[in-house]
Amino acid sequence: MSEANIYWRIVMEGDTRDTMKITPFEYEDGSLKVLDQRKLPGKEVYLEIETAEDMYDAIRTLAVRGAPAIGVAAAYGYFVALKKWYNEEMSYAFTEISTNCTPEDFMAEAERLKDYLGSARPTAVNLKWALERMYGKIKTAAEELIELSEDGELSSKGVDELLKIAEKEAISIHVEDVEACRQMGEHGLGLLEKGMGILTHCNAGTIATSRYGTCLAPIYLGEERGYGFHVYADETRPLLQGARLTSWELNKAGVDVTLICDNMAASLMKAGKVDAVVVGCDRMAANGDGANKIGTLGLAVLAKHYGIPFYMFVPTSTIDLATETGNDIIIEERDGQEIYHMWFKESMAPEGIKTFNPSFDVTDADLITAVITEEGVIYPPFNEGLSEAVRKAGEKRK
Ligand code: MRU
Repeated sequence: MSEANIYWRIVMEGDTRDTMKITPFEYEDGSLKVLDQRKLPGKEVYLEIETAEDMYDAIRTLAVRGAPAIGVAAAYGYFVALKKWYNEEMSYAFTEISTNCTPEDFMAEAERLKDYLGSARPTAVNLKWALERMYGKIKTAAEELIELSEDGELSSKGVDELLKIAEKEAISIHVEDVEACRQMGEHGLGLLEKGMGILTHCNAGTIATSRYGTCLAPIYLGEERGYGFHVYADETRPLLQGARLTSWELNKAGVDVTLICDNMAASLMKAGKVDAVVVGCDRMAANGDGANKIGTLGLAVLAKHYGIPFYMFVPTSTIDLATETGNDIIIEERDGQEIYHMWFKESMAPEGIKTFNPSFDVTDADLITAVITEEGVIYPPFNEGLSEAVRKAGEKRK
């Protein structure tokens, strides 16, 4: 059994819930598949990822989506693509002359793939975080191997070793994400009470992560422990992650979920049906401003108005201390046809209409009641707590 399989079994152990059998990706012995979330809820089909282009397209078109899931999938995809390049291009090119490839060749490809995959989407920091982590690990190991070699080259044995290191790192990123979500679930549940009405936006559940989800993790845990939550899922225009994904996965898990249109949240709050708002995050700046799916900011403003706690679930892999405030977060803008055409049989707007389709917005730190990380719950002002959480998570990795 490969190391990957062993890790996977450890991760799966003890989970009998049906929803926990959903996995946004499957990795086994060098082969990677991702759940095609574009087809949900109608079809549960997996896409095979064999090349860097397959991975790029799957991320770009949201076959795989949700900040943590994008990071983990990209880490596996990076390894798969690097291995393929070496096996197909380099081994062949050097058969006649030598079995070695120059360190420059290998590292140039490692860097090219990192930059290419990293450009698939701009906002979720987990993508670059995971790829930088993969590249950094390979670079350090390559430098050590080259120093030890007599001719300053990477032997094919050396490259094999580097590829094994890359595979192991992708698996670690995966396993850590499962654990981080589990811990966020426990911390988050401590903030909630039995019978609460909980509003969520977009999908920050099982399929947006490796398992459990970020802001849906306490809901799953609560369900197991008899909390009897009533969850309201915003449909989340224009790509309908709430309607297609959140209501699908919560319903499958037997959670009491009610789907609403995005513009219904205010009246639901006014009617006293919402006791807490829980959302995920794509990138949190050092000051606690958090980018998440478009519409999140509006919910935070409403929650403040009605005195409802607003909780943002942010694994440390989503905290970007290098970005000072939310003003520096790049917001992805997507094709306008997602608004007027994609889910309709006919266009729902006049031909050639101008559109504005930002995929995310930034919720100001002062609208967030608490940030929940795997390291614990952080209250405002956030700066110190966020850097402490990142430091602690980094220490554990050493
Ligand atoms: O465009 P998407 O579907 O990738 O956006 C996803 C979100 O905004 C999620 O809320 C966020 O990534 C957190 S996922 C745990």
